[in-house]
Amino acid sequence: MSGFEEKDGVLHADGVSLAAIAKDVGTPTYVYSSSVIEEQFNRLKDAMQKALPKDRQPMLCFACKANSNLAVLSLLQSLGSGLETVSEGELIRGLKVGFMGSQIVATGVGKQRREIAACLKADIAQFNVESLPELEQINSVAQEVGIKARVAFRLNPNVSGGGHHKISTGRTQDKFGMGVEMMEQAYAMAAAMSHVAPVGLSMHIGSQVYDVAKFRDAFAAFPEIVKKLRGNGHTVSRLDIGGGFPIVYNEERLLDLDAYAQWVNEIIVPLGTEIIMEPGRYLVGNAGVLLSEVLYVKETPDRKFLILDAAMNDLLRPALYDAYHGIEPVASRNAAWAKYDVVGPVCETGDTFTTDREMPAMKAGDFAVIKSAGAYGTSMASNYNTRPLAAEVMTRNGQYAVIRPRQTYEDVIGRDVMPDWSVKAKAAS
Ligand code: LLP
Repeated sequence: MSGFEEKDGVLHADGVSLAAIAKDVGTPTYVYSSSVIEEQFNRLKDAMQKALPKDRQPMLCFACKANSNLAVLSLLQSLGSGLETVSEGELIRGLKVGFMGSQIVATGVGKQRREIAACLKADIAQFNVESLPELEQINSVAQEVGIKARVAFRLNPNVSGGGHHKISTGRTQDKFGMGVEMMEQAYAMAAAMSHVAPVGLSMHIGSQVYDVAKFRDAFAAFPEIVKKLRGNGHTVSRLDIGGGFPIVYNEERLLDLDAYAQWVNEIIVPLGTEIIMEPGRYLVGNAGVLLSEVLYVKETPDRKFLILDAAMNDLLRPALYDAYHGIEPVASRNAAWAKYDVVGPVCETGDTFTTDREMPAMKAGDFAVIKSAGAYGTSMASNYNTRPLAAEVMTRNGQYAVIRPRQTYEDVIGRDVMPDWSVKAKAAS
């Protein structure tokens, strides 16, 4: 049994009962199916293998902002993945599970000097550079460290991709990358610097890009500029074509991977570069559920609230992007349907997972799953309302392992410090 399936009326992950996990580990708990992650990685890899020549296969660099648990990273590393990072913290995670520097790329509009230095010391494959001041900063840090930095310039193609305006990154008004008109200047600047070696270009137009044709429109910006840069005597040996592949949350169309791969083959491959891709959500999104317990069913003259012990601090997406996530009971899955607003305990009306949703009726003490929560779930969680971060569990072949225990209150509160003056004032009173 692999992935999420119902067995004897109870939802299981890789053959492990989610009711049993909820009882053993408590709730809320994120559960990740290792078989789904593996399947998704291989699906992407196979699509590229089918469409692209053997010697032009991309390096798949998992965008670990989607889910940075070490067990997830380690699994992906064992499958042959590389890593896309956006902070020193993510770099540290990657190195800790054994990614080599040559498998790591570093993106982000606000790279700090210490982060740049850490990347240089790890000898990462490349920095995806988002502005000219950043280029100068990288050159200066590289000089200090005494290592030449490989850089790729992030091209903003002015294509609006992304499933929500807050996660669209490829428009001119977005803070990301540089317009095509700046690429020649960036390359010329880099060529005159002592400690950077420009290797190519990168691009990422957004996340949950439903409209697969947007990728083609964005890729179309590459050939002309690559030709120009080469004409100016520069090296363009690598193109990082980003991530953004959508998953099914509700009734979206599945990504047409073959069409995508075909465009890579038609537009990118002829440019004769190495290819990097940065999938995040696609590899882990549907591999995770947030397991939760129904605390109360509250009925008012207007509505019926299903109050869960999971909240917006555990899974922020519905509150932040009005995102849809499937919600189902773990057991009693054939109960008559009822209509609920599903909410968490946090003191905000925004702490609402859904409104007016029909689903099998549930009662206090029942377990429920919020689906498709493997990407941007835990990685965006917070301690709001002084709620400990949820536990995380991974399943594999009929077994489960806790891959991060639930935070204790000591974990959450223990680093707060009372200033001297307030301690003294208390003692005096
Ligand atoms: N590469 C870069 C440079 C990125 O900024 C991102 C995501 C990715 C790759 C991976 O994109 P993906 O394949 O996962 O779509 N918190 C939002 C998503 C934010 C995405 C940020 N960048 C959400 O929950 O929908």
